[in-house]
Amino acid sequence: MSAQHVATPVKRTRPGASGLLLDGVERWTGLGLGLAEVAASYSRATLAGAEADVADDDVAGDDPGDGVLLAADLLEVLPGACAALALRVHAHPLLTLDRIAMHIGSQILDPAPYREGLGKLAGLVRELRAAGIDTIRNLDIGGGLGIRYKDEIPLDPVRFLAAVRPLAEETGLTLVMEPGRFLVGSAGLLLTTVLSRKHSGGKELVLVDAGMNDLVRPSHYMVWHEMVELEAAGRPEVPVDVVGPVCETGDFLARDRTLPGVVAGERIAVLGAGAYGFVMASSYNSRTRPAEVLVDGGRWAVVRPRERVEDLYAGETPEPRWETNGEG
Ligand SMILES: Cc1ncc(COP(=O)(O)O)c(C=O)c1O
Repeated sequence: MSAQHVATPVKRTRPGASGLLLDGVERWTGLGLGLAEVAASYSRATLAGAEADVADDDVAGDDPGDGVLLAADLLEVLPGACAALALRVHAHPLLTLDRIAMHIGSQILDPAPYREGLGKLAGLVRELRAAGIDTIRNLDIGGGLGIRYKDEIPLDPVRFLAAVRPLAEETGLTLVMEPGRFLVGSAGLLLTTVLSRKHSGGKELVLVDAGMNDLVRPSHYMVWHEMVELEAAGRPEVPVDVVGPVCETGDFLARDRTLPGVVAGERIAVLGAGAYGFVMASSYNSRTRPAEVLVDGGRWAVVRPRERVEDLYAGETPEPRWETNGEG
């Protein structure tokens, strides 16, 4: 167990919803920190829910102290509760409050929200030190640095550092970051082959062999992934939907896209698939997940072979070992 999971002040990008994120604390620790009690006293939510049960309006109020979001393992406590809870953690004989952290959201392209959040964290650190907590060593400003999916200008690391460094240095703590997508997002692409084309419902459809189970982001979040046609460059462009082979309305990789006319057998690279791509892939509809190939200059290696149909049921037990509670 590490203390960073115990006290994680969070500022969300939604206005007003800022506070303390408790990451599965009760479940992991079982240490009786009384978090349910803390939450109940500062929020309108209860700790028992398995789903977020506070409406968006509740967390987006104008009052910065007006928001609590509760999910299965995540509990956001109001700003006023952070220091009180940190003191409880500090007083616990088995816990050390080593890190104060925030995660303000994702795909952020402007350093300003980081500066704002960091200002709040620095204020909290000062408050905790004044209250006698001398164990904090790390200041974690989370992830969320944006990348280019279409035409966004990613956060420039030098500009970003210039924005956050002065405030971080003032605290004297070690600056920690979690730049997941920023590191791997642009490094990955999904390669797919055109199966056929057809005109339907007033639209030109390009059917490809990758579907929503391989890259769920377009269908799930309605986001744009840039596409590069490997063989069709230079042909006249036409407006198309690029759809997958899963029999679902939501099975698409792009809608209303203008692409050079591709034909069956040609390949399309779907860019920006290195983060939230394969890790969110599934075997939905018994579709086997694609191979993962590492490319390094002119060489490549299959680092995860294409899943086989047998793999889909390899974990199943055809002959159940029945157990009873003695009553049956
Ligand atoms: C606590 C925390 N750190 C880091 C990240 C990574 O964010 P991103 O992939 O946008 O950099 C996330 C993603 O939601 C997160 O919840």
